[in-house]
This record gives sequence, structure tokens and C-alpha cells, in this order.
Amino acid sequence: MASRDPATGVLPGEAADDSQSSGEFPITTRGRGHEILDALATAVVVVDDRGRIEFANQRALRVLACSATTLLGADVGRVLAPFELIRKAAEAAEGDEARQTVKLPDAAEVVIGFHVRKLPAELDSDGESYTVVFQDITQWERMRDERDRLMRLAAVSEVLPSVLHELKNPLAAIGTAVELLVEDCTDLDLQERLHAVLPEIRRMTLTLEGIGSVGRDLSSGRYGAVDHALRESFRVLERQALERGIGFECAVKDMPLLPFDVAMVRAIVFNLLTNAIHACRRGDRIRLSAELTQDSPSLLRVSVDDSGTGMSKEEVERCRELFFTTKPRGTGIGLALCDRAAQAAGGRLQVSSQRGQGTTVTLEVPVRAPVRHSPGSAAGTT
Ligand SMILES: Nc1ncnc2c1ncn2[C@@H]1O[C@H](COP(=O)(O)OP(=O)(O)OP(=O)(O)O)[C@@H](O)[C@H]1O
Ligand SMILES: [Mg+2]
Repeated sequence: MASRDPATGVLPGEAADDSQSSGEFPITTRGRGHEILDALATAVVVVDDRGRIEFANQRALRVLACSATTLLGADVGRVLAPFELIRKAAEAAEGDEARQTVKLPDAAEVVIGFHVRKLPAELDSDGESYTVVFQDITQWERMRDERDRLMRLAAVSEVLPSVLHELKNPLAAIGTAVELLVEDCTDLDLQERLHAVLPEIRRMTLTLEGIGSVGRDLSSGRYGAVDHALRESFRVLERQALERGIGFECAVKDMPLLPFDVAMVRAIVFNLLTNAIHACRRGDRIRLSAELTQDSPSLLRVSVDDSGTGMSKEEVERCRELFFTTKPRGTGIGLALCDRAAQAAGGRLQVSSQRGQGTTVTLEVPVRAPVRHSPGSAAGTT
């Protein structure tokens, strides 16, 4: 690339004293190229034919969080994007933006969007140089992800009721048919095998129930046996947990009838227990506990504690977001559903977790209406 006169900062071919020139544009700006580039709100670097940075404006230093000494002469692949990508981007159509995730010196990651053009030959007599114009688009990327998420949500919400309807009814029919077959079957071996199908059907029903309860209220005008609902979800998953060699413990205290939607309670605990099973390996343990506290108003407190993989700090922060998942086949709906249900009922869902140590998810909801004692209910734990 052609070099500037150190005294004037002027490139060969530029007018040093622009006041002599005349024309449509004020030529005086030409000799002040550096100052003008520094004043731009866009980051600019010039990369030489070997991929070395030979110019960076002030904005570029700020975006890449580097000093001029670090950046000038540095390999562009180390601080911005591989040289190969820069060269390719120079061939891209006008308006096509290339993207690159860049790790800054303080280890933070930002997404950079950039355009590249070859420097015109008259400014670049001794090789191929490239002007890279770029900006930090991390916020844009987040907004785009959020938009995509909302669009997916809208699409799912639209088709969900009919999909659930299509699935739930045949499933209920299959369940009833299998129950009848179990009763009628005289072959004990076959009867046992048919019997094993029933919890699977129940599991699928609970999953659908959970998805179908998105947006429904956990607090209810009707009273339900919450303790029974909790134990039912536990039992449905017990076999799966034990087969995987996971210790599975239920410590649900007896409770009076509570003004909660028991289908929602089942769905929430089913989600929490399923997550715990996914996070555990052979030898780990899971404990479901639940109680009604003596506070005023009293709280329904349900906890699922596991000794599984645990989560990173970022995962703990994000795990309640709708569609956040780290599983290849996860939907990221489970915890979002539980969190919304808890909040809508004036409660909260707390997640505490440590990578490699395990996770505890606790649901706490106030019991706002007087409890009702069902005949024969006694204090105890099952
Ligand atoms: N007990 C747990 N241990 C470790 N990670 C967990 C646990 N519970 C939730 N997570 C993390 O939170 C993420 C979100 O959980 P969530 O239940 O919302 O969705 P999912 O399990 O991925 O998918 P699904 O919608 O099928 O439940 C999980 O992908 C996982 O990374
Ligand atoms: Mg889940």
C-alpha cells in the first residue's frame, strides 16, 4: 500500500494544500483523512496483503478494546477475523454483512458485523490491501434472537391447542383400552407387559397436560389434593429413574385440600423431576420434598433436589427463559412454564445450582384462601 508523507499525512496523489484546488467537494478534507476516520462512529481498519493491520481508527480501538500499539502490525486473524474471511468478504455483494464472534482481551465475546472492500489501486500501489468497516452488533444479534423467539412462540401458540386436542383424546382411548386388556388378560406374562405400558401412557398424558397448561392459573377457585398430585407425578417417573440407577426419594408431607389446580401442580413437578432425571447419572440421587409452611399466609413449598450435572452461572440465569435449552431434543418450555405459573400465583421459582454438584429448584406459592381439611387427612410424609 502507498504510504503517507509523515509530515503532512498526505497520500501520493493527494493535494497537500487543498486551498489551491477547486471542485464540487471541499478538497481540504483530503489531507485530514486520519482525523476524519477517527471521528467516524464506525470502526475502520486497513489490512495489508499479508493480513497485518496497518491502520485502525479510534472507534476500532474501542470496539476491539485494544491499544494502537497492540493493534498496529497485528495479525488480523488474531484480533478480528481470519484473513481468508476478510478476503472472501471483499468479494461479497454490496450490502452483504459478514459476521464474526470475537474474543476481546478481557475474555468477553462480542459479535462483529463487517464489510470489506479492496483499497482502490491508486491508493495501493504495492499489493492488495483491504478496508474493513465494522461494528459491534452483539445487541442487534440479541434483539434478532428475541424476535425469532417471539415469532416461534406465536407460531407454537397458534397450533398448540389443536395439536394437543388431536393427541390427548386418542391417548386417553389407548389408556382405557390397555386398562381393559390388563383386566381381561389371563396370560400373566402378557398381563405384566401390558401393565408396564400404563405408566408410559400416564407419562405422555402428563407431558401433554404440562404443555397444555401454559398460561393457565396455578391458583384455582377449586380445591385439590396437592399432596396426592405431587406423589402421582413422582410415581409416574419412579420406574424411569430407578431403571437408570438413580436414587429417587419422595418426602411429600400430607396436606389439607388447597386452592390450586392439581393438573398444574402435576405438570410442574413432572417437569422438575424430568429435568433432574436428565441431569443425573447412575449413582446420583433425586429428592422431591413438599410441605405447607406455618407462615401467614402459609406457603406451599415444593423442592426438587438432585446431585446431577448442575448448571453454569449463565445457565442458571437463563434456564427460566422460554425456549432456552441445552438439550439436543429439548424444547426449553418446562422451566419457563413453571416460573410463569409460580409468578402468576404470587409465588416464585428459585433455582440454585453448581456445575458438577447438582441443582435445587424450589417452588413457593402463597396459599391465599383458607385451606380445607379433607376427611381422614393426617400429618405425615410419604
Ligand atoms: N435439574 C437440572 N439440572 C441441570 N440443568 C437443568 C436442570 N433443570 C433445568 N436445567 C437446564 O435448564 C434448561 C431449561 O430447562 P427446561 O425444562 O425449561 O427445558 P428442557 O428440559 O431443555 O426442555 P423441555 O422443554 O423438554 O423441558 C435445560 O435445558 C438445562 O440446561
Ligand atoms: Mg425440561
